[in-house]
Amino acid sequence: MGASKEIRFDGRVAVVTGAGGGLGRVYALEFARRGAKVVINDFGGARDGAGPGAAGPADKVVDEIKALGGEAVANYDNVATANGGENIVKTAVDAFGKVDILVNNAGILRDKGILKMEPENWQAVLDVHLNGAFYVTRPAFAVMRDHGYGRIIMTTSAAGLYGNFGQSNYSSAKLGLVGFMNTLKLEGIKYNIKVNTVAPIAASRLTEDILPPDLLAKMNPAYVAPIVLYLGSEECNETGRIYNCGAGFYNRAAMMTSPGVVIGSGKKVPSVEDISVNWAKIMDLKGAKEYGQLNDLVLQDLLSALEGKKEPAQSGGGFAAVKDVFEKMPGAFQAGAAGGAAVVFQYCISGDGGGDWSVDIKNGACTIASGLHASPTCTLKIQAGDFLDLMNGKVNAMKAYTSGKLKIEGDIMKSQLLEKIFKF
Ligand code: NAI
Repeated sequence: MGASKEIRFDGRVAVVTGAGGGLGRVYALEFARRGAKVVINDFGGARDGAGPGAAGPADKVVDEIKALGGEAVANYDNVATANGGENIVKTAVDAFGKVDILVNNAGILRDKGILKMEPENWQAVLDVHLNGAFYVTRPAFAVMRDHGYGRIIMTTSAAGLYGNFGQSNYSSAKLGLVGFMNTLKLEGIKYNIKVNTVAPIAASRLTEDILPPDLLAKMNPAYVAPIVLYLGSEECNETGRIYNCGAGFYNRAAMMTSPGVVIGSGKKVPSVEDISVNWAKIMDLKGAKEYGQLNDLVLQDLLSALEGKKEPAQSGGGFAAVKDVFEKMPGAFQAGAAGGAAVVFQYCISGDGGGDWSVDIKNGACTIASGLHASPTCTLKIQAGDFLDLMNGKVNAMKAYTSGKLKIEGDIMKSQLLEKIFKF
């Protein structure tokens, strides 16, 4: 393989929480070595999070970076408080003017079987991992939005993805971070903020008595750093993914959903026995796929499974030109069916005869304007030919959407109103 372009972070500002030791320290050193200015956050507590905290761990890593000729500042805040999170981001903004990269890495362990898991041990672990990531990410996200750039890395664990005896608190917190990422990846699209999650396996004070010594010897944290840095770089176009990484082994983990089965054609509530009879079909992961967001499940697969082999809707039609559709829209509007909804649909129709039109539904009236609306509820993007096929009943909206011909941005659920409120 030929040498690829060096991935650098000059001009970038990275915040790494829990960077006073273990994995975080290695990430921070590598970011600095490649030109980033780094905030080294570490509270400096014990492995279980106890103790008053200490400046030593963060200071030591700052010294190491400076000795290499890099730039870094220390922060000793506790990620598990809202003030701590704000202050970590403030440290970055005060010292370096922004935050481009955030690695939510700080972590503690309080392992116990469920019956011995006192609420304070549950709470402490959720506070550091899950709440801590929220407290730091929220102010960081605001700064990233203002700069139109951000790379956020969450740290989950195989314990959360797959389970690990004695770690119910930790597993819950760690999988909570995946849920956090799943929504942030959507909220970040507009601002070029990409959010990914790593599940490391590495020798550190967290794993020294969990993994066998011969295994630990192979698991230098240095093996995890390259993928974290890649996810933190401009090169990374990925968002919303999970990666296992350790000892030179890297793979992607995903939430897969089976094709499933419609029982009783959606018109009759199935019996418990119906579920039992169909169990194998519900369970079968053959043909399973990944969803990009909730609406992909609800609007694509659930509705199209219910529609089954129904013929495409044959409503109206006879349109020869895109603009004719918008001319006829006010007349085709069914105020009763709109039920008092206030929605602005923005159509962006590309290709010959296309153009931009907004359809403003408000107070039982429908107003059409050409051009782009300042704040549409949802935007529908489609080619002129496909749009005419849709409006002439040659293809139904669900098929157009599922096949990618129709793209819907913004409040996608509202787009469902369209089929009800216009009768051409
Ligand atoms: P580590 O204990 O060496 O490093 C964690 C650092 O976080 C420590 O320096 C600690 O002082 C700091 N920290 C803890 N609570 C904090 C708080 N409230 N505020 C600020 N800093 C705090 O552990 P390691 O292994 O480097 O872990 C890093 C992350 O990777 C953790 O989130 C951990 O759960 C995760 N992880 C590690 C695995 C491994 O195999 N080492 C496996 C899966 C996940």
